[in-house]
Amino acid sequence: MSLIEHFMKKGPTGFGYGSTAEEVTAGLSLVGKTILVTGCNSGLGQEALRVLSLRGAQVIGTARTLDKAKAACAEVTGKTFPVACELADPASVKASVAEIKKLGLKIDAIICNAGIMALPKLKQAYGLELQFFTNHIGHFILVTGLIDQLAEDGRVVMLSSSAHSMAPKAGIEFDNLSGAKGYRDWTAYGQSKMANLLFSKELARRFKGSRRTSNAVHPGVIRTNLGRHMNPIMNRVFGLVGPLVLKSVPQGAATEVFAAVHPAVAGVSGAYFANSNIAKARADADDAALGRKLWEESEKIVARL
Ligand SMILES: NC(=O)c1ccc[n+]([C@@H]2O[C@H](COP(=O)([O-])OP(=O)(O)OC[C@H]3O[C@@H](n4cnc5c(N)ncnc54)[C@H](OP(=O)(O)O)[C@@H]3O)[C@@H](O)[C@H]2O)c1
Repeated sequence: MSLIEHFMKKGPTGFGYGSTAEEVTAGLSLVGKTILVTGCNSGLGQEALRVLSLRGAQVIGTARTLDKAKAACAEVTGKTFPVACELADPASVKASVAEIKKLGLKIDAIICNAGIMALPKLKQAYGLELQFFTNHIGHFILVTGLIDQLAEDGRVVMLSSSAHSMAPKAGIEFDNLSGAKGYRDWTAYGQSKMANLLFSKELARRFKGSRRTSNAVHPGVIRTNLGRHMNPIMNRVFGLVGPLVLKSVPQGAATEVFAAVHPAVAGVSGAYFANSNIAKARADADDAALGRKLWEESEKIVARL
């Protein structure tokens, strides 16, 4: 619980800053639903796994290793399918797609939750900046690989962040996806979260005419393992002020769970949610040409890998 929640009003959905994942799913039965959550072993993904399972959904929980996925899934009582999916390794993502397909289940929602943030020094995978690769390219391979498994009214939820506003002016610097021409930790994280948002909106355009939906969310600011790469001083400050000003993990998991399952937003697509309500993203997130370019560049990258 933070001080801020006492000053924040609830939004039109009846939920708000202080709502938890349990609260946004209160009274809902998810029995018969299958939901995929990436990064199910930590932070918001772990809480999403717990609450979705509590409401009766069967959850496909992915983590970087099978051991981590199994351990996280073992913590909940409902039916789960632990799967290894290392997003920075295309072979691992493709193997997870094949394994999930073999389950032969229709997937009601895919929550692309896993992510890394603000690496102090440039790191790369396959010649691309690591946050862009992990947060965007890994999920791009996963989601596009599983489209045929998505139910007719299935939902895709991308974890973006308000940090998408820290992306470069161009939105995505296509001529510097390697980071070699210049690297700044928060700009690179912002670019990866802008990519999550642009991908989500482009997917929504591609879903038009169907009942499938695609939305992006900002979960709030929550102290989780996400800060592991952050400057240690900033991390210490976060630790001290966190309980007063940050969301708790149950509050942080609310918006992704809400967007994935709540009946109030069935049919809503191409939106950006925060505090379990529709919110405003950076204006160029709606630039359809930019979204299409990111999709096409991502396809070219994946083809080259
Ligand atoms: N916390 C916040 O304040 C905040 C704010 C805005 C947006 N978000 C977004 O919310 C999402 C969840 O973050 P969180 O706060 O719950 O962080 P977290 O506790 O660090 O969880 C991140 C998850 O992603 C997994 N992951 C990291 N790199 C991966 C890779 N290469 N392949 C597969 N999985 C990988 C982690 O696995 P390991 O444990 O094995 O590393 C972990 O399961 C992220 O997308 C983040 O960008 C968070």
